[in-house]
Amino acid sequence: MEELQKLPGALLPWYELHKRDLPWRKDKDPYHIWVSEIMLQQTRVEAVKNYYTRFLDALPTVSALAQCDEELLHKLWEGLGYYTRARNLKKSAKEIMDQYGGVFPKTYEQILALPGIGPYTAGAICSIAFDLPTPAVDGNVLRVISRVTNDPTPIDLPAYKKSVTDRLAEVYPARAGDFTQALMELGATVCGPNRRPDCENCPCKDFCEGYLQNTAENLPVKLPKRERKREEKTVFILSCDGRYALEKRPDEGLLAGLWQFPNVREKLSTQAIIDQVERNGLKIKEIHMQVERKHIFTHIEWDMRGVYAEVTDCAGKFLWLTPEQIETRAALPTAFRIFWDQVKNRETLEISE
Ligand code: ADE
Repeated sequence: MEELQKLPGALLPWYELHKRDLPWRKDKDPYHIWVSEIMLQQTRVEAVKNYYTRFLDALPTVSALAQCDEELLHKLWEGLGYYTRARNLKKSAKEIMDQYGGVFPKTYEQILALPGIGPYTAGAICSIAFDLPTPAVDGNVLRVISRVTNDPTPIDLPAYKKSVTDRLAEVYPARAGDFTQALMELGATVCGPNRRPDCENCPCKDFCEGYLQNTAENLPVKLPKRERKREEKTVFILSCDGRYALEKRPDEGLLAGLWQFPNVREKLSTQAIIDQVERNGLKIKEIHMQVERKHIFTHIEWDMRGVYAEVTDCAGKFLWLTPEQIETRAALPTAFRIFWDQVKNRETLEISE
């Protein structure tokens, strides 16, 4: 494919001039690249920056990650979502300790075999850390290639991703790491998502078929999205003597092993709320406020009623934590943290029934 052959020559000089100064671009340590690439899956660059730095400060080596406490791991990942990514990082770190004596493996096949690492991540680590000609094809890269080649094939088809990966591998230059990142960079900026591509400032405009044929704006083509399942919930933010009731989520399924406010799978009326709290061995002193919140996961949407209530005793099956303990110890996923943030800002809120 002629357009693809022209990519390295156009992108490498452009990348030198335009690359963003990002914390994971300061060195080529495979551990650092791995952590950054896992964090960057499904998460925006701006959101990842602070998490990345804090994670490596706390867990500076594969060995530290392999030994780290699960609660700390969850806390470091709190708010990033897709927590399986964090648990797989730790699993892989243990494998690197056991199978490779703590030295990060250097071949594509060995890296691909680690838990949580697919062709994209293996390609990114091998090219960025070791300059191997292994493409890392994510949504950004698929968008660039579908435009450059003016290809209307839906980019969510797995076969398309495989075909782009194979075709790119054939044009990889010696500066493999820079090329991988230049492709991602173009796809994240000039040829970015959810807006018109900035073709006037694109280093590929001389040979981009999407630009030359005026189709770039309508590419990439995507398959229709599956509808999300909706679930209703009542979430209880129960306080007593300055402590709040928390419980651990089950070890399997969505948000496994993280902390949550007690909740039930339906929206309850005020009387049903009182009854539900009593079924848990507690007695409501006062309901301060009720709020409605939504949280969207990939395949499911929670439509939640948050109930802020004071109870008479720190009793029942819950763990009663102080705000400080919630801040520093319990990994509370965003779906529940949105209620916690209201407590923190309570002074500025009007109390309403
Ligand atoms: N998205 C995924 N990987 C990235 C990287 N290394 N730099 C910037 N954005 C990315």
